[in-house]
Amino acid sequence: MEGEVRLPGDKSISHRALILGALADGWSRLHGLSNGADVRSTAACMRALGVEIEEQSVGPILPVLARTSLRGFGMDGMREPDGPLDCGNSGTTMRLLAGLLAAQDFVSELRGDESLARRPMDRVVTPLRGMGAGAEWPPLRVGGRVPLHGIEYRQPVASAQVKSAVLIAGLFADGTTAVIEPVRTRNHTELMLKAMGADVNVDGMRVEISRVDRLEPLDIEVPGDVSAASFWLVAGGLVPGSRLRLPGTGVNPTRTPFLEVLRACGFSIAASDERVIGGEPVADIEVRSASELRSIQVTGGMAAEMIDELLVMAVAATQLPGESLISGAGELHLKESDRIAAMAEGLGAMGADITALDDGWVIRGPRRLEGARVQSHGDHRVAMALAVAGLLADGGTEIEDAECVDISYPGFFDDLESLWRASATRKGPTDWRASGGQDGPY
Ligand code: S3P
Repeated sequence: MEGEVRLPGDKSISHRALILGALADGWSRLHGLSNGADVRSTAACMRALGVEIEEQSVGPILPVLARTSLRGFGMDGMREPDGPLDCGNSGTTMRLLAGLLAAQDFVSELRGDESLARRPMDRVVTPLRGMGAGAEWPPLRVGGRVPLHGIEYRQPVASAQVKSAVLIAGLFADGTTAVIEPVRTRNHTELMLKAMGADVNVDGMRVEISRVDRLEPLDIEVPGDVSAASFWLVAGGLVPGSRLRLPGTGVNPTRTPFLEVLRACGFSIAASDERVIGGEPVADIEVRSASELRSIQVTGGMAAEMIDELLVMAVAATQLPGESLISGAGELHLKESDRIAAMAEGLGAMGADITALDDGWVIRGPRRLEGARVQSHGDHRVAMALAVAGLLADGGTEIEDAECVDISYPGFFDDLESLWRASATRKGPTDWRASGGQDGPY
């Protein structure tokens, strides 16, 4: 496969830009926001809370929105929503908004689709209650008991979403609020709040924030989503004769440990023109097909640092010699689907030698994969990981509910088709049961 991919705007940063931008007085300018369904859920919720959002889209199925302007309501101008807020499939929307809404003097209810309704929210309810907030689940209802007070919260499970919820609530709380992480997770909330003038201090695994009266608007360019890039990095590394370029990829070090694991397996991944845009490190990345490969070893705290990339790493492991171990990833049971079961089932159906563990998989390779009919379980990352497996397999692969890729990457299958067409090593037809369910910009 040869070519260049325009990645969707980083999903984590896009959510935060919409939520935190709302807390500033005046207009924020956001360039390159993700156009995925999850970020559109956040935008819809923020509108229901009184934020004005204007976007100029470059086309409904592009993964990126060229220009978005957002008029924040400031720290105390939020409107009480008319009814429950619909977070769709998005855990980030629900958990970050729980932090924001817990600090308001009215009660809000947050809802989601069937998958989100099954996901654990007690992890966010517990610290918010510790801050004096009204918070209960299920269903998730927060707010109505203010003012909050700062706490020091030692997280039992690594989660950037929970950390962010507590920090956002901390913006409204008396005194200081501190979160102590067991493993360092993505720090986009900290970076963005700092850029907006908040008092954020990071000391090792401890993040501390103080109450603020006012935040400055944002003027940011959202980098390409490095988690979306992971699918192309594995495909480019393993499809013979490949050379893929991914310009403008976010390379925040809290998001890139998986790159080091792939490099340790022998992948040829180069980053050039490293720069900082809007406080976030960005680089142009290029991957070429790898020659000498070794197995993957992910253990302990490593998994939390690459939680969204583990699925496609499992796909890579099927092509690596020896026994690969991906462990420490019990959280995968609690994502948009039970990702441990979904990948064991899908890759198993394609002929991989994969054993599911309580907290990951053991995968023995290299194994020739056979195309099969597989289930995405409505989970965008499962669908994309199995699509990469399909590229590596003999014969056709059919993925059920493949349109769920729109959650984070509208246009994924268009990119895949055009790169695949340019591939010199095409082995057989592959069917993506994608309906292209994208329904336009915000
Ligand atoms: C995210 C944090 C991670 C990740 C998710 C996005 C975020 O979830 O899996 O895709 O934007 O903060 P957890 O906080 O549950 O680990």
